[in-house]
Amino acid sequence: MVLWSLVLGLLLVVIVGYLFLPGLLRQRRPQEPPLDKGTVPWLGHALAFRKNMFEFLKRMQAKHGEVFTVLLGGQYFHFVMDPFSFGPILKDSRRKLDFVQYAQELVLKVFGYSPMQGDNNMVHSASTKYLMGDGLEELNEVMLDSLSLVMLRPKGQSLDAGCWYEDGLFHFCYNILFKAGYLSLFGYTKDKEQDLLQAEDLFTQFRKYDLLFPRFVYSLLGPREWLEVGRLQSFFHKMLSVKHTQEKDGLSNWVAYMLQSLREQGVTPAMQDKFNFMMLWASQGNTGPTSFWALLFLLKHPEAMRAVKEEATQVLGKVRLEAEQPFPFKLSALQHTPVLDSVMEETLRLRAAPTLIRAVCKDYILKMASGKEYLFRQGDMVALFPYLSVHMDPEIHPEPTAFKYNRFLNPNGSRKVDFYKAGKKIHHYTMPWGSGVSICPGRFLALSEMKLFILLMVTYFDLELVDPGTPVPPVDPQRWGFGTTQPSHDVHFRYRLQPAQ
Ligand code: HEM
Ligand SMILES: *[C@@H]1O[C@H](CO)[C@@H](O)[C@H](O)[C@H]1NC(C)=O
Repeated sequence: MVLWSLVLGLLLVVIVGYLFLPGLLRQRRPQEPPLDKGTVPWLGHALAFRKNMFEFLKRMQAKHGEVFTVLLGGQYFHFVMDPFSFGPILKDSRRKLDFVQYAQELVLKVFGYSPMQGDNNMVHSASTKYLMGDGLEELNEVMLDSLSLVMLRPKGQSLDAGCWYEDGLFHFCYNILFKAGYLSLFGYTKDKEQDLLQAEDLFTQFRKYDLLFPRFVYSLLGPREWLEVGRLQSFFHKMLSVKHTQEKDGLSNWVAYMLQSLREQGVTPAMQDKFNFMMLWASQGNTGPTSFWALLFLLKHPEAMRAVKEEATQVLGKVRLEAEQPFPFKLSALQHTPVLDSVMEETLRLRAAPTLIRAVCKDYILKMASGKEYLFRQGDMVALFPYLSVHMDPEIHPEPTAFKYNRFLNPNGSRKVDFYKAGKKIHHYTMPWGSGVSICPGRFLALSEMKLFILLMVTYFDLELVDPGTPVPPVDPQRWGFGTTQPSHDVHFRYRLQPAQ
């Protein structure tokens, strides 16, 4: 008995020591950034960080300046806030910072997928082939058909032209982008109506997962939510299984190429199912919310809406909708929309807030633009949060919280790419897609599908807010750091398909 208590006691001391030591013992060494361990051992600032990352980092930046180290759940993170010093971190020619390791751990936890060596390169080469350039043109055609099907609905249940419908704008945009995106990438069967029903079901479950996601990543779910997450994961693995996808027509080249590579490397079918879930998540989690914010900003800023409509008429001409036909739309128009491009860039500046994370594999010295040098310890993380340090910097973007539809336009109407801070031209003046090795490989597809959706909405529909005075809702504070943010509540709107002439 006594012996056992002793052993147990010892074990407890070891465990507690292991958990709490990093918080208690670590001291700032010369050349290291200011160290802020917070007041709670081990957890450090984790609670404040999870509650509202943006506000937390704002406080830390005000207190410590351009670089600081914070303890978050046993792990030390070096936040670099000076955008002129991002270059060496993003390029990292010395291979001392690693993107893959952190991403792999996250992906295993969230999607159950254990990545193979070289997956990252494989995804990026598939994307270069099929989500950009000529490959993208082909996908845009498919996307236009999918959007037509989803927005106009199949024969027999099509939308009544001239009749007003009401919906939540967030739900409406997310639902349409998700279904059209999913069908375009993961393929159709012979039965389109059935496909739409299946896509609708998938969206309902996807939203459940989406809502649990931030707290899942931070390991804050209660026991019942844990079970729910497990159930949802199995559902997606089943629905997206390679067995199902192989039965489909028109699986996109992008997905087909990646699955082929996995097969060739001997990845098991069960693991391929999980890979599909991960790709569904990456490809569908941000386009809906971004389109929502863009349309809402347009509805709240009539001068912006007028400018976009005018541009749409210019590039599309007077186009007529025929009953029960897909939208008549010249895809080449997507190349000639500087006003809409500026609206999208401004929307992403205001609402896309990713965190970029790299693991420090070897002690690393960051040389700041100011010439000052900081030491990062092996085993720590380096993190960038460009939303605060770039998007919201009033020097780079005056009145940073205001929506200005022409912020990214030159006076002569071309795309504006010259932005300055302290008189110096800044290369990374927005970073909604991340940057460097981990930059979003779907960004061109994302932009073209969102633009297509918005052009169709403003060209073929009448839109209005149910309450025109309703303010733009605030961002759900749990969503900072996870790509495009979501609103804390939905906004009601009305839409009406203009009658065929
Ligand atoms: C508005 C829409 C989108 C936004 C804001 C967005 C943003 C991002 C960001 C911030 C990352 C991570 C970068 C990092 O870790 O540094 C990422 C990764 C990724 N995105 Fe997107 N994305 C969008 C749409 C898409 C679409 C439509 C696709 C594909 C069809 C896609 C595919 C991916 C993939 C596969 C990755 C992981 C890349 C890797 O493993 O390195 N994304 N995205
Ligand atoms: C438009 O203006 C920008 C800068 O204001 C300039 O760089 C660009 O060359 C101009 N483009 C045309 C077509 O005049």
